Amino acid sequence: MIIRRATADDVDRIAEMEKVCFPEEPWSRDMVAAEFSGLNPTRYFAAEEDGRIVAYAGVWVIPPEGYITNVAVLPEYRRRGVASQVLQTMIDECLAEGVTDITLEVRVSNDPAIALYRSFGFEEAGVRRRYYQDGEDALIMWTHHE
Ligand SMILES: CC(C)(COP(=O)(O)OP(=O)(O)OC[C@H]1O[C@@H](n2cnc3c(N)ncnc32)[C@H](O)[C@@H]1OP(=O)(O)O)[C@@H](O)C(=O)NCCC(=O)NCCS
Repeated sequence: MIIRRATADDVDRIAEMEKVCFPEEPWSRDMVAAEFSGLNPTRYFAAEEDGRIVAYAGVWVIPPEGYITNVAVLPEYRRRGVASQVLQTMIDECLAEGVTDITLEVRVSNDPAIALYRSFGFEEAGVRRRYYQDGEDALIMWTHHE
């Protein structure tokens, strides 16, 4: 497994994985492509096995804050520490760029993701009511790094 920066060449693969990993509300190809347009301070990372992306994650770096947009792992690669490796790489990049506080939103029902983020020190800081298209609330989480 290698972890590397994702680039605009990965847009098709990431858009394909969005449909598998977020069947309720996948980002469209255009939404994914916008993340790689260079207009926004995004950093995306991909985990590759045998030349194929099996996980990715993205963050907007706006020092001193980082805003995690997405973390996703193909179902057959879950519970092997892949998300943790990608997230750690992404957090290290954030810290190197002067970020001290990182935030994200997660569905209140998404126990695996909430457990993952808690294991990285993220704590619940509030709820955005009906944040998702299907009406589900989002939990807002933050972590602070000295
Ligand atoms: C959430 C997700 C990214 C986790 O990826 P993963 O590679 O399986 O996570 P890891 O193996 O690195 O897990 C790290 C820790 O997170 C927690 N965790 C992960 N999946 C879990 C699950 N299904 N149930 C409970 N805890 C879980 C555990 O504490 C785990 O440590 P452990 O395996 O030693 O117990 C993955 O399930 C996924 O892609 N889900 C669909 C997309 C999604 O919901 N993304 C988050 C959007 S905000």
